[in-house]
This record gives sequence, C-alpha cells and structure tokens, in this order.
Amino acid sequence: MTSAEVRQSFLDFFAAREHRVVPSAPLMPDSPNLLFTNAGMNQFVPYFLGERQPRDRRAADTQKCIRAGGKHNDLEDVGFDSYHHTFFEMLGNWSFGDYFKEEAIAWAWELLTEVWKFPKERLYATVYHPDDGDPAEFDAEAHACWKAIFEKAGLDPAVHIVNGNRKDNFWMMGDTGPCGPCSEVHIDLTEKGDSGGALVNKDSPHCIEIWNLVFIQFNAGADGSFLPLAAKHVDTGMGFERVAGIVATTRNFTDFSRPPSNYNSDLFSPFFSHLEKLSGKRHTGTLPASREKLSDQEWIDCAFRVLADHARTLTCAIADGILPGNEGRNYVLRRILRRAVLFGRRLELEPGFFESLVGPVVETLGPVFPEILEQEEVVRRVIRSEEETFGRTLDRGMQLFEKMAEESGGSISGKDAFTLYDTFGFPPDLTQLLAREKGLTVDEAGFETEMEAQRERARAARKSSVISVREGGDDLEASQFTGYEINAGETDAELVDLISEAGESWLVFDRTPFYAEMGGQIGDRGTVEIDGREWRIVNTVKDRNDRHLHKLDGNAGDLRTGSRARLRLDRPFRLRVQRHHTATHLLHHALREVLGNHVRQAGSLVTDDRLRFDFSHFEGISESDLERIEEWVNARILENAGVRWYETEFDKKPDTCLAFFGEKYGSVVRVVDIGGYSVELCGGTHASATGEIGLVKIVHESAIAAGTRRIEAVAGEAAVGLVNEQFSRLRTLTHKLSCQPAELEQRMETLLEQKAELEKTLRQLRQKESGNVADDLAKNAVSHGNLRLAAAVVEVENPQAL
Ligand code: SER
Repeated sequence: MTSAEVRQSFLDFFAAREHRVVPSAPLMPDSPNLLFTNAGMNQFVPYFLGERQPRDRRAADTQKCIRAGGKHNDLEDVGFDSYHHTFFEMLGNWSFGDYFKEEAIAWAWELLTEVWKFPKERLYATVYHPDDGDPAEFDAEAHACWKAIFEKAGLDPAVHIVNGNRKDNFWMMGDTGPCGPCSEVHIDLTEKGDSGGALVNKDSPHCIEIWNLVFIQFNAGADGSFLPLAAKHVDTGMGFERVAGIVATTRNFTDFSRPPSNYNSDLFSPFFSHLEKLSGKRHTGTLPASREKLSDQEWIDCAFRVLADHARTLTCAIADGILPGNEGRNYVLRRILRRAVLFGRRLELEPGFFESLVGPVVETLGPVFPEILEQEEVVRRVIRSEEETFGRTLDRGMQLFEKMAEESGGSISGKDAFTLYDTFGFPPDLTQLLAREKGLTVDEAGFETEMEAQRERARAARKSSVISVREGGDDLEASQFTGYEINAGETDAELVDLISEAGESWLVFDRTPFYAEMGGQIGDRGTVEIDGREWRIVNTVKDRNDRHLHKLDGNAGDLRTGSRARLRLDRPFRLRVQRHHTATHLLHHALREVLGNHVRQAGSLVTDDRLRFDFSHFEGISESDLERIEEWVNARILENAGVRWYETEFDKKPDTCLAFFGEKYGSVVRVVDIGGYSVELCGGTHASATGEIGLVKIVHESAIAAGTRRIEAVAGEAAVGLVNEQFSRLRTLTHKLSCQPAELEQRMETLLEQKAELEKTLRQLRQKESGNVADDLAKNAVSHGNLRLAAAVVEVENPQAL
C-alpha cells in the first residue's frame, strides 16, 4: 500500500460504517488555550461538551496537527528518532454520543488485521488502570473487549493487554476540557516480533503506538475536577505517518528485518531525493545512539529528517494563516524555521534552500489539503523573507557562538545565550542544540534571568503615572459600562472613589458611559457635573479591577465620595473615535480580501483623528494594492451596512468570527458584525452603520518588524480634513502655475524639461568660461626647468568644472 492508499482505505472503511468523511480543520485552533490544532478532536470539542449538535453522529477524517510548544510538544525529538514529527496527520473516527467502546475497539481490530493485514501476534492493546490519585476507574469494559478479541485470535490476553496509568492511558487535550480513558494499539516491530509486550510505552522505535482510542467521558475543570459528560463519545487518532512508515518499511508486513522508520514511506521520499540533489549527500537512515555525540553521517541523516518534517510544518501552518513572528505560536514557527536553517548548514546547503522544500510538500500533501495548493505562492514568499532575515545574522551569530563556546569553560552563560537570542535571533533551544553538540551545557536559569530583566526594562519604559494608578487597588467592584450606544452618553452615577496621585486626580463612578482605553481604542472624554459644578474629564483608563478611572482636568479639590454625579460624554469626540474603530475592522477585512487570509491583526491604535493597524504580512504592499484596499473600504462605506454587536459564549461565536492570538478571551465574548461579512471579537465601540465613517484615506504603509506591516489611515472628519488640505495645496499650485488642476502634470513636466534644458545651457556656458580661464592660465605660465608652471586661484561650480 502507498501512503495515499492507507489514508483512503481508512476513510473508506469508516464511510462504509456510516461515518461522514469531513475535512481537516485548519491548524489555527479555535480554542484560545491551544497554540496549534494538536489533535483530531479539537474541532469537535463543542459536540463533546454538548454545546452544539453535530450534523451527523459519526464522522471520520484526516486532521492536520502540529505538536510543538505547549502540552504536547515533540519538537526536540524530531530528527533524532524515526517516529516523532512536529507536523503529522491524524486519522480519526468519531462517535458523538453514538457508538462506544465495543464498536470502536472491534472496528480498530478489523481494519488493522482484516483489511490491512497487520500480523495479529505483533499487536498489543493498552488499557487504563489508574494509580492512586489518578481520575476515574479501571477500564474494565475496554479490557473485556480486548480480552475477547485476543482470545478469539488465539493470543494470550495477559500478554497482549498492557495496563497504563494516567500518564499513558488517560487522554487530555490540554489542562481542561473533554477527556477520558484511552486504549492504545501498539505494534512490535522487532525482527522476530517476540518482545512479549515488554517494550510497550518504553520509547522504543521497535514498539510504537499506532492508534489511540479515547473514550471521552469527562470534562476536566481548571480546579482539577473531572465531571462526567452528559453523553459518551469516541475520539480515535491514528498516527498516519507511523502506519504508512510501517507498511513501507516491512513491505506490507513481509519483512521485519529493516530498522523501522516513518521516514521510509513515500510521504518523505520526495524530500530526500530533493535534498540529495541539492546537497550531494545521502540519507542512509542511521539513528544516533546518543544526542551528545553524533557521527558525520548521523548528523546528515538527522538533518534530512528535520528538514522534511519542518518543511511540512511551516508550509501547512503558513497555508493556514499562521506566520512566523515574535510571540506565541508565531514564535514557535520562527524557531522551527531557524532550526531548519541551522540543520541545512549541516548539509552545506546554500542560503535560501529552505523555500525549495515547499515543492515536495505541495507534491505530497497538496492533493489532500487544497489550501496548500492555493497558498503555495504566499508560503514561498513568507519562507523566503524569513530565511533572508535570519540569514543576515546567522554567520556572525555562529562565529560569536564558536568564540563563546571556546571561552565557556563547559557552560554557555545565560548572558551569552541571551546575546545570541537578542542580537542574532538564535532561539534558546537552538543554542542548546549547538552547545550539546560540543558537549557543553547552557545556563538556562541565567538566560531566564536575562529575559526577565529585559521584560522588566520594557515594563519600566512603558510605565507612567497613569499606569501606576491602573495597578492600584484590590478586589474593588468593577464599574458598570453603559456606553456602547452613543445615545446613552449621558448618565447619573455615584462617585465611589477618588484617587489623587502625582498631582493628578482620577474619579471612579459606579456606572459610566465613558469607554476606558482598551484594545487599542483610546479612552473617552467629556464632563462630569457634581454638586452644580462641572469638571472636564480628559481621559479614561481601567485599573486591574476593571474600574473606569476618569482623569480630571485639574484638581479634585473638596469632592467627596458618595456624591451624585451627572456624566456627559464628549459625543463628537466619541463619534470620531468610533468611526476610526469601525474603519479598522473594514480595513482588516479588506487586507484579507486583497492580500490573503494569512493577514492577522498584530496590534492597533484607534483615536479620534487617526488609526494605526499592524498586521502580519511578509512584504511591502504595492501602491496598486493599497488603492484596491482603500477602494474596497470606501465601497463598503457607501453601502452603509449596519453594524451590530452582541455578547455570546466563546464556543458559540459564529464560525466566521475572527479571534486573535494573544487575546485572552473569557467564556463570554463580544462579537462585532459589520454587514455579515466582517465578524470579529471586539470590546470596543463602533459606528452604528458603515456610512457614518464617511470616508477612509490610507496615509502611510511601512514595516515595523520582519513579517509585520503597519497601515496608518484616517476616517471621517480627519479624512475629509486630509482631502481638503490636499485640495488646497493643489489649488495653491494651480494658482502659482496658472493652470487647471487637470493640466498640472503636463505643466510640471514642461517645467522640468525647461529646467533640464536651462541647466544644460548653463553647464555649457560655464564650461566655456572655464575654458577661457584655462587658456589665460596657459598663456601666463612660466618656465621652471623642464616644466611649465601656472598658478592661480580660480572659483568654479564643481569638481568637474575644475
Ligand atoms: N485525542 C487522541 C489523540 O490525539 C485520539 O485522537 O491522541
């Protein structure tokens, strides 16, 4: 069987058993607690929890997964063994409150042994057997199912069933969420197949887990509780690369003499032949006995595996809109890419080689995951630009590392590791890898201290008196915000607290229509009337208790808490801010329309007279694209679509809703929907219809970091102001040049031509003049031995004339 046949026959097997075959979910997870989609079950969590009803009660699929960073992290093992990957496909069959253990186990056995003809005597099943303190009971039901199966096959259940505790046989996606006991199928790949179960769960390449059958029964809470779910579900995950590797290595189970490796399958051979051509070196499949000391060939073989794995991870992640960057999942990708580039050095590959590995990914996975074909160009450009950025500092970083290593005395100091990280872009695990190879260690604690010091410096740089006010107070009641509707901009409230600090006064009310600076949107302004006197409020911020602090223009004087107050928003100001905020959402949507779905918000600033929007994108935006973006936004403004907002549970937000990494969303989120096409999670205030924005003009586009661009724009009055300003400049020019605006260009060109002509004439005249001066000088030259000597002070325009 080829790998494609393995995948297809899995899906066909379950389709024939009434499972709907569904597409893989994207690698960008829905759950805010995950870095990447890391298991087939991620997309089905709402079904398991009973929050949403599935269309069908049975499903099957192949799911793209990345396990790097976070709870399930395989990055460090990749390349050094034959069966870990950062990217892999998980084949799965699913029951949503439908069949349970008996069918799941029976079908697993049938597919493996009847359809694919795995040798029965080489298969082992693990069953959950809790240790003291582990959740739930011994899984007697699964045990009974396996016992019957092995007995029927003439195999001893006492040998072929292996118990496992919470660590090996209780599956959780993260620290919380749906979970349950699991039963895994392992295969003995020793030459004789006589390990008798002794290698199960012993991290041996000669006995690996191929299929995990999870019986989802509980919901794990953050407090450590395991509450039973209303219905029981099945979540199975088969390691596709492992099965394809076994089938290939053993030539359909006929020959167990070759060392097992996932990399033997046709999923990886296109990478290896490509790399062999590029490097002139060969992948011979050796595995290092120890990570400390590798032979040259072992390094080469590791590098082949690392590069194939990492190319798949980067390509699939970028195709799903996750770009390398500086934080969170984006930084994990950057680390993976840099790791790949470093391993490429082992093969002495030319800088820029990594992009060429996109080809084999497209070849092997494109037919299964169409987004890879659609996004190929974007993927290549992102990788090219990342590789270039790292390439610029890599050589110098390596030289420095060598020097540090020489002088290290056995351990690279935290300070040195930090310099490599901060100045040369070496992620700490990369330094670790280089150090280990030289038999050195890295002072990880020292590195962390340096990192913390840097964070502290950044915090200190951000701090101002306002911040210190924000951080004050303990467990005080949050202010009630009443101001999403502009018409609710005036309200009665009670003054509940009064803070004076560094000569500034801040007032806290029980309720307020004043938006406190958050999510890039600046705080509101307005006035407050207390006891017949009116004060101006010049800013509003939040403290850590979610109290809105209203900054007074001036001193609070004799104001007392408990006073009644009338708060009034500066409506025109708020309307200007709202226009910019809604315009930001439109701009974001337009960027995704014009540049592609990889665009993700990386930060924003929304004020009353401008907006700034930072986003992931790998290159400068052409003027024509900027024009298209602006046109798109203004067309939506003319349509005057309604803007609505509502609160919902995170898991019930619309499927099209954009939620962003780095944001910590609570269980209840606020959705802002513009015309049904732009749907984002957002806590800010917005125009009630797009027409209110009036007009948007993009003012500037620039880079702020590798892979991150910034657009500055103006909306509403500010945009009209900008247009008027430009018009008035135009008018001044047309007056000066005595022409119509339409003639300006022609007029300028004529003027420039005339200028060039005049300059030419002037040059000729000057040359002639210089010629005359030179002639005079020559005439007046005196003899000096064999030489003629002319001396004079001359003044000329430029060196050429001289
Ligand atoms: N959720 C289980 C796993 O990821 C089975 O699909 O291993």
